[in-house]
Amino acid sequence: MVKDKHEYNTIVFEPLGTRTHCDAGMSLLECAQRNGIGINSICGGHGTCGTCKIQLTEGKATPYTEKEDKLFTSQQLKNGWRLACQTFPESDCKIYIPPASMTTAQRTQTEGLPVSVQPEPVAKAFPLDLPPPSIQDLMADDARIFTAIQNQYGETCHSIDIETARTISPLLRSWEWHCQTTVRNGEIIALLPPRVHPLGLAIDLGSTKLAGYLVDLSNGETLASKGTMNPQISFAEDIIGRMQRAVKSPQDAAQLQRVVVQAIAEMAAELCREAGTTTANIVDAVIVGNTVMHHLLLGLPTKQLAWSPFLPAVSSDIDIKARDVGITLAPGAYIHMLPNIAGYVGADHVAMLLAVWEHHSRGCVIAMDIGTNTEISLIKDDAIIATSCASGPAFEGGHISHGMRAAEGAIEKIQIIGDDVSYQVIGESRPVGLCGSAILDAIAQLFHTGIIDSGGRITAQNPRVRSSGKQKEFVIFKGDRSKGESDITVTQGDIREIQLAKAAIYSGIRLLLNKSGTSEQNVDRVIIAGAFGTYLDIESAIAIGMLPQLPVEHFIQVGNAAGAGARMALLSATKRAEARSLASKVQYLELATTPEFNSTFIQASYLGPYSAQHTRG
Ligand code: FES
Repeated sequence: MVKDKHEYNTIVFEPLGTRTHCDAGMSLLECAQRNGIGINSICGGHGTCGTCKIQLTEGKATPYTEKEDKLFTSQQLKNGWRLACQTFPESDCKIYIPPASMTTAQRTQTEGLPVSVQPEPVAKAFPLDLPPPSIQDLMADDARIFTAIQNQYGETCHSIDIETARTISPLLRSWEWHCQTTVRNGEIIALLPPRVHPLGLAIDLGSTKLAGYLVDLSNGETLASKGTMNPQISFAEDIIGRMQRAVKSPQDAAQLQRVVVQAIAEMAAELCREAGTTTANIVDAVIVGNTVMHHLLLGLPTKQLAWSPFLPAVSSDIDIKARDVGITLAPGAYIHMLPNIAGYVGADHVAMLLAVWEHHSRGCVIAMDIGTNTEISLIKDDAIIATSCASGPAFEGGHISHGMRAAEGAIEKIQIIGDDVSYQVIGESRPVGLCGSAILDAIAQLFHTGIIDSGGRITAQNPRVRSSGKQKEFVIFKGDRSKGESDITVTQGDIREIQLAKAAIYSGIRLLLNKSGTSEQNVDRVIIAGAFGTYLDIESAIAIGMLPQLPVEHFIQVGNAAGAGARMALLSATKRAEARSLASKVQYLELATTPEFNSTFIQASYLGPYSAQHTRG
């Protein structure tokens, strides 16, 4: 159907990635509600409660109202902040819904491999009972601590962090000379009250989601964990777009850094609230992310990352004071960033390798984290070859007609038997879209039942196949129009998007196998990490030829392995050294310069097992 521009506008709601139509005269709140997107609206849309705040990141809407003028600062208005109930689109728009305005949170992945490392933190806490000063004992407060640590624990301290020094005298006196001193590589970085356990913060900084963990450094226990969306999505959905913004405008680069710092700081505060403690007790942190996230957080240049040959400014591991990036923890707390491997294989992949290395590195192993960029390592004979493939946003619901991320209302599993389609929806609500795992299921089953051929074309007759404009589509869910529901379909265009995404992933696997002279059948295990990988139906992925043709028991879905690796590095100096050593042994394979990449990619775009024999019909 050709859009009549006076009839409706297309609205994309981020971070859900839901694309909807908004009829003329309909507010953004009404549009969201009609489409099952939960935006808070305590006052029922009268513009008085302020709970429906959103950010208009692209497109035009009616001018802001008096109510909005009162509620937002001029800077917020300039940045596109609006009340969804007071905003009427005047063009196609992109909207960012902040977590505070969402009625239901998006599913984020914090669970993963168990972390069972012997605590051996880099920031060590020493309980001290200090002799009070007197006229006969005139030692300065810092020297008093240095001496006590040397005498009682045999550890040498040589310096004190300046912010810690600013609090040392009043704290020691208020605690009557009983304290815990946290020391990192000879530097006093924090004073804690007696008996308080020193805490650590581990963050997996993904381009879509952040997963955070609060860890007791004395016993290794994870006290709280939490997932949230990466607010940088409101700038650009993928890392390429964010880099382009950062390269073009230093203000945008600073803003990209600011929003993610704020998200980490808020996450740290919420984790502490949940565990009944404060961020002042967090004495160490580890953050892992892909190379672009790493560089944007640290305010490093990204221009050389954005252009061939895509080089990181920094690949070695790096330690910075948390306060230097604007995150408030204990006064002298550091953030340790694990090393990057290449422009598109970052510290999060190193963290994943660290997490799987001990139990899953024997034999021939493929370890991968599927996302908009998929990083894959082939581990064999203690050697690691890694690559990254541009798998795109299709598995996150992006570029898919009725795609959305895994949030309430998303169909996550599909079963097609004859003309019947059964599905499973996240949450209790009516279906509003398809998340990546469901799209994959649908295509695998449409292929299996012969409705689409190996080239991805919808060919067979079926009561659910219909034409929409110039393309065919398969109807998964028939919406009730009287209730404002839309149909949910898988279109020919969607199938093409998934073919491209799965071809990128399989080509990466194939070329790694070629490089190491290994055949698919010699792979002992395939480890799949990440949120999408957790919910992915392995049989569907094998059926369409995204994963190697191996028995399903060869596949292990490990959840957020990067988060597990970050916690391991947080708890143990030995694990940090191990991460360094793993990163240094990785040989990076650049797919774009691999001669057989194009032919492999074309063959891998066909559905079904990989074959070098396919020809276009
Ligand atoms: Fe209350 Fe918009 S719903 S201000």
